[in-house]
Amino acid sequence: MNPVIDVLMKRKSMRAYEQKEIEAEIKAEILKATLRAPTAGNMMLYSIVDVTDQKIKDKLAVTCDDQPFIARAPMVWLFLADYQRWFDYFVASDVQALCREGKIEMRKPEEGDLFLACSDALIAAQNAVIAAESFGIGSCYIGDIMEQYETHRELFNLPQYVFPISMVVFGYPTRQQKDRKYTSRFDQKFIVFENQYRRLGREDFDEMFRETESQMTPKEGIANFGQAMYTRKFSSDFSVEMSRSVRAILKGWMKGG
Ligand SMILES: Cc1cc2nc3c(=O)[nH]c(=O)nc-3n(C[C@H](O)[C@H](O)[C@H](O)COP(=O)(O)O)c2cc1C
Repeated sequence: MNPVIDVLMKRKSMRAYEQKEIEAEIKAEILKATLRAPTAGNMMLYSIVDVTDQKIKDKLAVTCDDQPFIARAPMVWLFLADYQRWFDYFVASDVQALCREGKIEMRKPEEGDLFLACSDALIAAQNAVIAAESFGIGSCYIGDIMEQYETHRELFNLPQYVFPISMVVFGYPTRQQKDRKYTSRFDQKFIVFENQYRRLGREDFDEMFRETESQMTPKEGIANFGQAMYTRKFSSDFSVEMSRSVRAILKGWMKGG
């Protein structure tokens, strides 16, 4: 009925790929659609690094929390929140002179600018995901790119006002991946509110996780799904490393900001 809704509903993360390159024309189309994404003030506060070097992919497969499928993805795009380009342009435009004249201090990128740049980068990334899907190309976000900042900064030559917010890996999915079951979603009543935010309580949680709890395999020392998720996701080594790494990026971003 509606091909766009169809693509959105069909998408799922794909983590194993056929050994087939993505054709240059298709890649170019995906890129064009990506670059049409809306951005704050049309400033395009993001950059993309197309990772084609197998050695770099191999390294990312390790530094992004040991996910070997990254190395096997035919297309790997790093999405960077980027205020460096505009800040350099401001400096090249001698904004310093303007500020001197007005006797005001020149502003540097701060927290709000970072969040705006992250929004731009992520919206562009999702355009890429959906454009790829429309060609039958599967993808998977790699949030772990926010870890190991010092290594990634060196690897990609990242300056102060560039934040590696996300990475997406793409490829033609294997049959097994195509046949894999879709992940579930929470009932919309727990996610979508009218006019005001509604904080969930005990009864909501009981209902929200009833089915998941009933399917859980018991594990020593873990009483419920909340405890399992806390252990597996929230307090795991990768989360701790991500927070450390993001803190280091923020420190650099705000230096002199
Ligand atoms: C911000 C973000 C980070 C993610 N990071 C990873 C990752 O590092 N590795 C991975 O295998 N999947 C990653 N995913 C994929 C999610 O696990 C996946 O989207 C989720 O389980 C829902 O499944 P679906 O995409 O198949 O609907 C990430 C997704 C998002 C949106």
